[in-house]
This record gives sequence, C-alpha cells and structure tokens, in this order.
Amino acid sequence: MSKVMIVGASRGIGLELTKQYAEAGDHVIACARDTAAAEKLDTLAKGSDHITIKQLDIGDPKSIEEARSNIGDSLIDTLIIVAGTTGGQHQTLDDLDIEEWHNTLNINTIGPALVARAFKSNLIESGNGNLMILSSQLGASTWPMGGMYIYSTTKAAVGKIGKILSLDWAGDPITVSVMHPGWVQTDMGGPQAEITSEESASGIRKVIAGLTKEDSGNFYKWNGDIHPW
Ligand SMILES: NC(=O)c1ccc[n+]([C@@H]2O[C@H](COP(=O)([O-])OP(=O)(O)OC[C@H]3O[C@@H](n4cnc5c(N)ncnc54)[C@H](OP(=O)(O)O)[C@@H]3O)[C@@H](O)[C@H]2O)c1
Repeated sequence: MSKVMIVGASRGIGLELTKQYAEAGDHVIACARDTAAAEKLDTLAKGSDHITIKQLDIGDPKSIEEARSNIGDSLIDTLIIVAGTTGGQHQTLDDLDIEEWHNTLNINTIGPALVARAFKSNLIESGNGNLMILSSQLGASTWPMGGMYIYSTTKAAVGKIGKILSLDWAGDPITVSVMHPGWVQTDMGGPQAEITSEESASGIRKVIAGLTKEDSGNFYKWNGDIHPW
C-alpha cells in the first residue's frame, strides 16, 4: 500500500485516479478546491476506506500552506498535480482576457511550484517519492496549431517547472515528471475526445509505477511514450 496525494480530485482525470488508486488498496489524500461542491468525490469517498478528502485551492498560496499544515509531516509516496484550467474562451491575440491569463498562470503554473515546495519533505519521507505534474501537448513546442495563448503558455511554463525541479532535486529521493494525459473525455476534453478518463488514469498509473530516479525530468504521454518538449 502506498500513499498517494491527488491535487484536483473533484472530477475528470483526478477523480478517476483517486478511484483507481483507492481500488488498488492505496491510501489517497484527495484534494479539492471546494470540498463542499465536490459531490462525485464525496460519493466515492463514502464507499471507500482508502480516501481522505482535503481542501486545497492550487490558485491560492494560502490554501496550499493550510493544506500542508492540515496534512502535516506524513509520508507521501506519489503526488500528482492534476488541477488545471483552460483559461476561458478569450484566447486569441485580438480577444484576450488578460485577467484570466493571470488567474490561469496562478492555477496552471505557479500553484504546482508552490505545491511542490510545500510537500517536498513529505515526498523525501517516502524515500522514493514521485511528483508528477499534468501538463498538455499544447505546452510543447511541437504542437502545430496557433492560438490558445493562455492555456498553451501556462502549460509550457509548468513543463519547465518540472524540468527545473528535477535538476534542483537531483540529490533528493524524488522523481519529478511531467505528463500529457491524452485528449481525454472529461469536462475539459469534451465528449469527442480520443480516450476515456479510465484509460488515461490507468496509463498514468502504469507510467508512475515504472519510474526510477533516472527518469526524473522526463515529459511523458499517458501511454508511456516520451513526449517531445
Ligand atoms: N482532458 C484533456 O483532454 C486534457 C488534455 C491535456 C491536458 N489535460 C490536463 O489534465 C488535467 C486534468 O484535466 P481534466 O480533463 O480532468 O479537467 P477537468 O475535467 O476540467 O477537471 C479539472 C480539475 O481541476 C480542478 N481545479 C481547477 N482549478 C483548481 C484550483 N484552483 N484548485 C484546485 N483544483 C482545481 C477542478 O476542480 P473544480 O471541480 O473545483 O473545478 C477539477 O477537479 C488538467 O491539468 C488539464 O490541463 C487535460
């Protein structure tokens, strides 16, 4: 049994990861920004002894610190930062929601760095910790389409954060990786997306299970292939 923390567990890929890890017998600290509104997570946790729900708004540094005090010094083997937002509908250069860009930067980019900082000692406590950050293929330089300024730039930057963390933590027992979870049938991906959240989450779990320290700094696809930066 390992201890897994999921940030952004209320729905979509984060909810499915919580379900699969709990069913496998792992203990999951499932974090949601608004625990009172996380009905699906609540229902899942009611049917399992393996899920503890905690409040964590990744866009709010104070909330991250409060979650750290609340969770305390306990060991965490795997921390998956799933929480993310698209940044809304106004993402062309001529129709740009600048306030939303700042908000999305807080959630998609700065928040993951602050969560990594807050829970580093918990991952060290594991002796073999894993930090995975969900990014997107839109954050890669190889993505062939333009537009989506807010989403693409905030995801590109969080990929760089993963890379920097892997270098800064090279001497610590923590493997840091970045993941493109696939185009997934969730609220974000839409019903026409290529894979289900079940397929994405099981792929992510398989990748994490196979990681070693030598893999730190890699950018993966959900099926285990290396994603180009
Ligand atoms: N779906 C895809 O096709 C796809 C493709 C590439 C990358 N991704 C990435 O994969 C991750 C998960 O995507 P998804 O498809 O599962 O998205 P989703 O269905 O839209 O769910 C987003 C999750 O992030 C949480 N979240 C948003 N802002 C938060 C905040 N400030 N604090 C804490 N949690 C917050 C949401 O919580 P609330 O319920 O409180 O809003 C929800 O649990 C995201 O980082 C996304 O960018 C998804």
